[in-house]
Amino acid sequence: MTISSRLLGLIPIIATLLLTSPSGSEPQYPDPPLYLDPDAPVADRVEDLLVRMTIEEKIGQMNQINFSLINADDMGIINIDEEKVKNLIRNYHVGSFINGEAVPPQQWFEFIDTLTRVAMEESRLGVPIIYGIDHVHGASYMSETTIFPHAINLGATFEPYHSHNAGWVTALESADVGHHWNFAPTLDLGVNPIWPRLYETYGEDPHMVSAMGRAYIEGYQNNQEIYPYRLASNAKHFIAYSDPVSGWDKTQVQVGMQQIYELHLPPFLAAMDAGLKTVMVNSSEVNGTPVHASFEFLTEMLRNQLGFEGVVLTDWDEVGKLVDFHRTAKNYTEATYMAVTAGIDMSMNPLNLNFYDSLLELYKDGRISEERIDESVRRILRLKFEIGLFENPFPRNDRFDRIGSSENRQKALEAARESMVLLKNTNSLLPLEDPAHIVLAGPSANSRRNLAGGWTLAWQGREEERYPEDMHTIYTALQQEFPDARIDVISDRAETLTPELSERLHAADVIIYAGGEEPYSEFVGNITDLTLPRAQRDEVALLASSGTPVVLLLVQGRPRIITGIIDQVEAFIHAGLPGFEGAEAIANVLSGAVNPSGRLPVSYPKFTGHYLNYNYKPSELYFFHPDNQNHLEEPNPGTMLYSFGDGLSYTTFEYSDLQLSSGKVAEGEHITASVTLTNTGDVGGKEPVLWYLTNVIGRVSRPVRELKHFEKIYLEPGQSETLTFEIRPEQSLWYPDSRGNRVFEEGDFLVRAGELYRRFRFEK
Ligand code: BGC
Repeated sequence: MTISSRLLGLIPIIATLLLTSPSGSEPQYPDPPLYLDPDAPVADRVEDLLVRMTIEEKIGQMNQINFSLINADDMGIINIDEEKVKNLIRNYHVGSFINGEAVPPQQWFEFIDTLTRVAMEESRLGVPIIYGIDHVHGASYMSETTIFPHAINLGATFEPYHSHNAGWVTALESADVGHHWNFAPTLDLGVNPIWPRLYETYGEDPHMVSAMGRAYIEGYQNNQEIYPYRLASNAKHFIAYSDPVSGWDKTQVQVGMQQIYELHLPPFLAAMDAGLKTVMVNSSEVNGTPVHASFEFLTEMLRNQLGFEGVVLTDWDEVGKLVDFHRTAKNYTEATYMAVTAGIDMSMNPLNLNFYDSLLELYKDGRISEERIDESVRRILRLKFEIGLFENPFPRNDRFDRIGSSENRQKALEAARESMVLLKNTNSLLPLEDPAHIVLAGPSANSRRNLAGGWTLAWQGREEERYPEDMHTIYTALQQEFPDARIDVISDRAETLTPELSERLHAADVIIYAGGEEPYSEFVGNITDLTLPRAQRDEVALLASSGTPVVLLLVQGRPRIITGIIDQVEAFIHAGLPGFEGAEAIANVLSGAVNPSGRLPVSYPKFTGHYLNYNYKPSELYFFHPDNQNHLEEPNPGTMLYSFGDGLSYTTFEYSDLQLSSGKVAEGEHITASVTLTNTGDVGGKEPVLWYLTNVIGRVSRPVRELKHFEKIYLEPGQSETLTFEIRPEQSLWYPDSRGNRVFEEGDFLVRAGELYRRFRFEK
């Protein structure tokens, strides 16, 4: 059925429903209601609909239910049970559903088509449902789609264009099946390397995360090719989720308010500026209070101070967790009271109707007013109107050829290529020049699932055989890249250097060890030791003892510590989680078809017991390294293996002639820094130029450096280009106090590019 015939079929249904009042008596609203007029202002449509709704219908809109409650099977395929939908809409007026699993687009289409039809038939006022899903790196909850690298790799590209593409392609490949609302981007700051959700972040720097998040939202929400649909993105997890004291997911965070304003908030502000429509709340507690029960964060900060007008959604069952996880509420009703008075609009329940029952009870007891419920329902309805759900509630299946197209996959491949971070390359072992014989070993050598990581096909990833057959593993990609080479795979873990193994290793030109991590998501990925697992370290050491040079290639969601083995390998590539096109990208870098240009988006620890972000405070090294007077010069004072921004190329770049247009700048003015970059090597290459500022003296101690601007450029061998950075006090020379007020302090600043720096003075 085409889209237009679907819509025509809908009109009589809505008309009939509208002519029936809640009690079934005389029609109350005989005229075509204003809320159905697509030309009326959204605010008017919202108010017109709101006054027609019963309290039960309003509360229903605030509920989000998991797909398993409307599925015919307990687990497994998307197989809708219409009776279950009818019950949830007729009796609970549920406004939103979520989640699912990776079935083909046509199956998703049928599921959402039926869900929408039944929901609209059963909803007295014909209010469409909004469907939410975690398509966090491409439409990853559907099969046959394009799967991008995870956010940590997009951060490593230092090129927001790739994040824009990820958002754009995700919208293109999921809008038609009726996935209206994507729980991405993740705007948490990747500051804690052991936290299992590090790979979902863009990295540790607020400026870079802001740029990537903004690009994603613009790509996803502004994609015109999905017309007539529009979509909503959801930034998560507000706020300060990413730095738990224990490193374990969803556990408590202790962080100063000044740091929240300076580090954790900027990405959310940039997202709001880009038109962000919804926010998901941090599921842990910050400074002792679960954020889901925090009036301070959800109302005072997010609404009153930042002026956010979109929908605030809970995370998974977080109202319930106020009772049985945080133990801050004695029962579900109290938890509902806490969360709603704190400021949530919609509860991702998701497996029961406790929130609906509790909120109705609180209303009837006079503890939560209709005005408060109206505030949230207004926002939810506005979202539904803004994305055109009333006009275009049904999915369509007439342009599925765009899903997983070669153009889209090419975009994912380019992102994966630019996300490869080469960190060691002794004697220019890489690129491999016409190798005749490669030994390939390690747990990621022939694995598809490891390349894609968590949140792919399902929450924790899938069994190996569920991944597309045309997706390369590192092994098959190497076969394609080096068609004349013999590639000898060591499939079982090598534990001793037997004569036979020794002979195999000696015969090879190079050993590629593909190690790292298996897929995990959220708390399932909690670990007690960030060191690369012992079995892998031992195997690398064993293979290296053969004397044949080793390339260490880690496919991993976080920087697993390799201090004990890094000296034994000649080359090291941090490949992150590069997605479905990742193996090809890796092979391209190994062969030199692609010159690596990724840079570390997070610092790489050297020790299990000590970790510094690159923008550490001078005093953080006082006891560890009392003689070090060079904080202002060193992004990595020796306590990290590699720092944020590190990464090698097959060419060399020289920075020269760093200039400032003036040695002084005042509020309302700007000065321009410029630097010349020259490709001094033999091959073309891309270089992310990272501009840092240092505020030399600050009353609130200042980081040793802060990224304030970046730009990636391509240069041919011998080519030079001059790059500039306009320094504006209102953008870059202030910091927030613990209430979020901007502090401008007169004094000296340093601007840096490469190893060069210049000093200037800020005077008010
Ligand atoms: C995660 C969110 C996710 C949600 C829905 C939660 O457990 O923390 O990031 O969007 O589940 O799947």
